[in-house]
Amino acid sequence: AGVYYPDKTRVGWWKNGYPEYFAKVLNSINWIGIRVFIENQELDLSKATVLEFQRVLDMKRGTLERNCELELDDGKRLSLSSLRFCSMQDPELGCLDYRIQPLNFSGRIRLEPILDFDVHNEDSNYGEYFWEGNESGHKGDQCYNLAKTKKTEFTVAAGMAITPIGELTDSMELNDHYQIGWKLEFQISPEKEVGIHKFCSILSSFDHDPKEISEIAINKAEQAKENGFQKLLEDHIQSWANIWKDSDIIIEGDIEAQQGIRFNIFHLFQTYKGDDPRMNIGPKGFTGEKYGGSTYWDTEAYCIPFYLGNSDPAVARQLLVYRHKHLPKAIENAEKLGFKDGAALYPMVTMNGEECHNEWEITFEEIHRNGAIAYAIHRYMEYTGDREYLAEYGLEVVVGIARFWMQRMNYSENKKQWVILGVTGPNEYENNVNNNWYTNFLATWCLGFAIKCWDHVKTHHGERHKELEAALNLDRKEVDSWAERMEKVYLPRDEERKVNLQQDNFLDKEIMNAEMIPANERPINQHWSWDRILRSCFIKQADVLQGMYFFYDDFRKEELERNFDFYEPMTVHESSLSPCVHSVLASRLGRSEKAYELYLRTARLDLDDFNKEVHEGLHITSMAGTWISVVEGFGGYHVSEGKIHFDPLLPEGWEALEFKLKFRGNLVRVNISRSMVRIELEEGTDITIIVSGANQNLTKDSPIEIPFDR
Ligand code: BGC
Repeated sequence: AGVYYPDKTRVGWWKNGYPEYFAKVLNSINWIGIRVFIENQELDLSKATVLEFQRVLDMKRGTLERNCELELDDGKRLSLSSLRFCSMQDPELGCLDYRIQPLNFSGRIRLEPILDFDVHNEDSNYGEYFWEGNESGHKGDQCYNLAKTKKTEFTVAAGMAITPIGELTDSMELNDHYQIGWKLEFQISPEKEVGIHKFCSILSSFDHDPKEISEIAINKAEQAKENGFQKLLEDHIQSWANIWKDSDIIIEGDIEAQQGIRFNIFHLFQTYKGDDPRMNIGPKGFTGEKYGGSTYWDTEAYCIPFYLGNSDPAVARQLLVYRHKHLPKAIENAEKLGFKDGAALYPMVTMNGEECHNEWEITFEEIHRNGAIAYAIHRYMEYTGDREYLAEYGLEVVVGIARFWMQRMNYSENKKQWVILGVTGPNEYENNVNNNWYTNFLATWCLGFAIKCWDHVKTHHGERHKELEAALNLDRKEVDSWAERMEKVYLPRDEERKVNLQQDNFLDKEIMNAEMIPANERPINQHWSWDRILRSCFIKQADVLQGMYFFYDDFRKEELERNFDFYEPMTVHESSLSPCVHSVLASRLGRSEKAYELYLRTARLDLDDFNKEVHEGLHITSMAGTWISVVEGFGGYHVSEGKIHFDPLLPEGWEALEFKLKFRGNLVRVNISRSMVRIELEEGTDITIIVSGANQNLTKDSPIEIPFDR
């Protein structure tokens, strides 16, 4: 995590303002390799007859297990088993238990555990190898392998130690170019299982002095070996148990739905722990090269609610601080595009604050991302009650964003209102449109939010306010201009249908239902030409509805319903971020069947490969959306003016739903069964909760119990 390479941009036609590079988190040392030789013949699963094969991802314990039985060409039969984990107790440690047992022969086998730095990125723009300065060696019973990234000069070092299972007949060092390890020989016979425990440390100069890193890697591997596999496995399982204790979601009566949500929660915690503000969450986490492991608006719009509900507020705060650290770069980025006076445009894709995206319709035009960053600050304050954040960090970010929106709008003499031209909304199946409703609404909200933040800091942190006034060169006059502007921003709307219009002229399109697209043409992004997609009415992901989800309190239910009924049928949900938002809205509208259909689609997106792209990696950020669809959708969880609301809806077939939530120092357990909503306060102090519209007092001694039949 955090180790990246700035891969030189490659585009068909260069546009001024494009970034020089796309930052990529790199494939790094392969620590799991073990070659197996039977009487000097290398074992190759693709050539053997596989009699049995089972691979198990144990999400409760966080282990990956594989068991298989094979028959070789010469009739030799054997069983292999392996179990490995990346320690949750110590993120720099990976451990592997590998065993082999002959079933009908005796002889000699050799295991070659290796650390392999011959790794490439398939998506390298110029076919380059991103690592250099490879160095490796043995030291006593340990070995290490190290390399540096080109240009960015991060050092990554791995150490390895081995404990044999069974008696070794010979052991030799192996040092072959990028690979280092041992050749370990065993005598085997049917009743004798042999194997190894492999302990690997992986460290980077992100956290260690590069001069000492190989030494530390070796010591760490040695220490792991001393602790032993069993102990490390138990510690790891215990760490997972601590996570599951408060973060599990239990769905009774629907095994597919249950497996789906746990798969999502598991991957989110594997990806991001929240203990380092330099880190963020890539759309594919570390499971695939697509999106380069860089940061997108996904974090603010989707991941923050998950971590707010499940972790200490410090975790979500880290994610906000990450953007604060990037503020100078966001200002620089805006300047490159011609904005001035402290206007900040956060990048669409970034690693260190610099823009990495290079498709003009997104780089320059998908500017709604700026709004999501302000919205995340608002959400964080609502959920945690921590307003101190504003004075320390938040206000500067919000002001930069407000200034950007002020400059990005222009006054239309024709409309006698302020407009935002040439944008791409969240629905990327429209490019370069004028007055995307979501963008205009969000931009206007940002101005109002900035005013509130400014006033708050002025009232509660006078000294800091003065300091910021000077540092930001901001005065009341400028703040008043935001208030004035807010009143005059154009929001496209169709009065006949009484819906918010996705953009100007949206109704010129042929309005069709996505069900009319033949199945063999779905997903359309893999079958249709781009111009055809752009001309169609089909929507990639929530756009107007994304806004109505964010600003739920601002719209009446009938209004939400009208917009949902207009837009959802045109939506092809070809972004993983789409089904979850629609599922929440469907729940809020009491459309249980629709909410459930979309829930399964988000929860099992990767397990069932709905969008036929799982080979590119898992959709980590949308996994947070899955959590949202359960807790905010079926659980009906919503925070408004600092108060928790629940308005549950249980899909048909679910006997019960149970989850826990962290909210302002409280830990609340919610159980929704077919006949009752039960809310318990596990930790914290008395609070008022609004359940299905009625105020309820929750104390540790008296849980809320309300009859329920939705
Ligand atoms: C979506 C974006 C998203 C990106 C990364 C795209 O397909 O349209 O909204 O930020 O994927 O998840």
